[in-house]
Amino acid sequence: MLIEFESVSVSFDAKTALDNINLKLDQKRIGVIGLNGSGKSTFARLLNGLIAPTEGTVTVGDINPATNPKAARQQTGFIFSNPDVQIIMPTVIEDVSFTLRSSKLSKDEIRSKALATLERFGIAHLADQAAHSLSSGQKQLLAISSIMVGEPKLIVADEPTALLDLANARLVSRVLLEQIEQQVVLVTHDLELAAKCDIVLLFAGAKLVEVGEPAPVISSYLAQN
Ligand SMILES: Nc1ncnc2c1ncn2[C@@H]1O[C@H](COP(=O)(O)OP(=O)(O)O)[C@@H](O)[C@H]1O
Ligand SMILES: [Mg+2]
Repeated sequence: MLIEFESVSVSFDAKTALDNINLKLDQKRIGVIGLNGSGKSTFARLLNGLIAPTEGTVTVGDINPATNPKAARQQTGFIFSNPDVQIIMPTVIEDVSFTLRSSKLSKDEIRSKALATLERFGIAHLADQAAHSLSSGQKQLLAISSIMVGEPKLIVADEPTALLDLANARLVSRVLLEQIEQQVVLVTHDLELAAKCDIVLLFAGAKLVEVGEPAPVISSYLAQN
């Protein structure tokens, strides 16, 4: 899908979180880097209507997330650093099934679709376990499963590996960058991950300071900090 930002600014009271962003992106793997407070999460949250621009227009595919947040949330799945904030049901299978609660599928169809999704992300054996009993990496895979079962067109992941140990971070990154066919926007401090994207956006002080091939954008990030 085409992601388009036209003169987009976001302010919180007197604080400018994003300053006049102009962009057109249709790459499959879009990395977002920058120091803390540079505007990365604000950028990510605009994509599914979690926040609206103070000025300008965001368009994702055919949808303006600010004016149609319901359609935006259906189209765009959002993965947070902390999977605990998005796991809402007691067991693993219930959590994945919850996404399908308002679909026209029967109970059996929902269960088999949920199980197939868990299978795909390697956690079907945990289906009947309590979600809170999972390891942090397994919880993130559950959060991803619960998003993916709804068949979003775009995945936005805001530092999805920040709370994970190395092995789990690698597992979750592999899922996001290699196993999902959908378009992914990946906000990360892991420059190895950013290097694997098709294009990288560098934010600094609420501005988009560079966009392009990963290697030169990452080099200038390293040089500036
Ligand atoms: N809800 C909010 N209320 C007030 N200020 C905010 C809010 N969200 C973000 N900000 C501010 O906007 C700036 C950009 O934040 P953010 O997009 O979260 O940066 P990043 O994700 O790169 O760390 C920061 O200075 C932050 O303090
Ligand atoms: Mg952030």
